[in-house]
Amino acid sequence: MNSSPLLAARALSAGYGDFQALFSVDFDVFAGEVVALIGANGAGKSTMLKSFVGLVPIRAGTVTFDGRDISKMPAHALASQGLALVPEGRRLFRGMTVEDNLRVAADRARRLPAGVPAWTLERLYDLFPILGERRGQAVEKLSGGQQQMVAIGRALITQPKLLLCDEISLGLAPRVIGEIYAMLPVIQQSGTAILLVEQDVTLASRSSNRICCLLEGRIVLSGRSSEISREAIAKAYFGVGHEVG
Ligand SMILES: Nc1ncnc2c1ncn2[C@@H]1O[C@H](COP(=O)(O)OP(=O)(O)OP(=O)(O)O)[C@@H](O)[C@H]1O
Ligand SMILES: [Mg+2]
Repeated sequence: MNSSPLLAARALSAGYGDFQALFSVDFDVFAGEVVALIGANGAGKSTMLKSFVGLVPIRAGTVTFDGRDISKMPAHALASQGLALVPEGRRLFRGMTVEDNLRVAADRARRLPAGVPAWTLERLYDLFPILGERRGQAVEKLSGGQQQMVAIGRALITQPKLLLCDEISLGLAPRVIGEIYAMLPVIQQSGTAILLVEQDVTLASRSSNRICCLLEGRIVLSGRSSEISREAIAKAYFGVGHEVG
């Protein structure tokens, strides 16, 4: 593993009004890895992702991405740096077709170095063939799983170095979750690192190289997914003891 992280949060604090949601969080994602971020409802998972992409202001600490301080960078500038969020609830453009939803983000894409294959519409339709079949349909006509595929595709077309996924399995049937999660290794092998927020701890563990657990705005457990025991995860998740793996 490369010694300098792709994304590094240091002493990161963030919140809403009087409420502090993140407390001096240190967190890394290295190039090419899949990291799962778990934690109970309200632990601060979405806030952490949003603070990385400028949607929640950072109160203290820093976030660097690819060696650059992005702590004060506005959300709209981050896609071109190679950081893309698949937001909680998908937030697709209703009334627009699948293909237009995918295309709309392409303007903000990162410029790729020569020789690096881009995520194109064709490649996205290879990844999710159903999107190719339904490219001309309005997104609200699609199933929840298909809409989630559009949301992932819309993020990929910005050519991210790091894809942030906020609960992409939420509300979907197990078979559909399986279909979507089966594509994550393909995305990872294309060279994109992935930070997953996932409520299903078993799925999170199975789909990631590393796992981190947030409890009430603090990282209470972090380690290799293959090495962390279910007991340690359960304790961290529910706040019984604060071990570090
Ligand atoms: N816009 C907001 N205004 C005020 N408080 C907020 C806002 N968004 C989140 N919070 C609070 O911040 C804390 C962290 O919320 P966050 O959404 O980051 O949690 P989460 O881990 O993503 O939870 P979930 O699993 O429910 O998505 C919670 O206590 C939540 O109530
Ligand atoms: Mg959330």
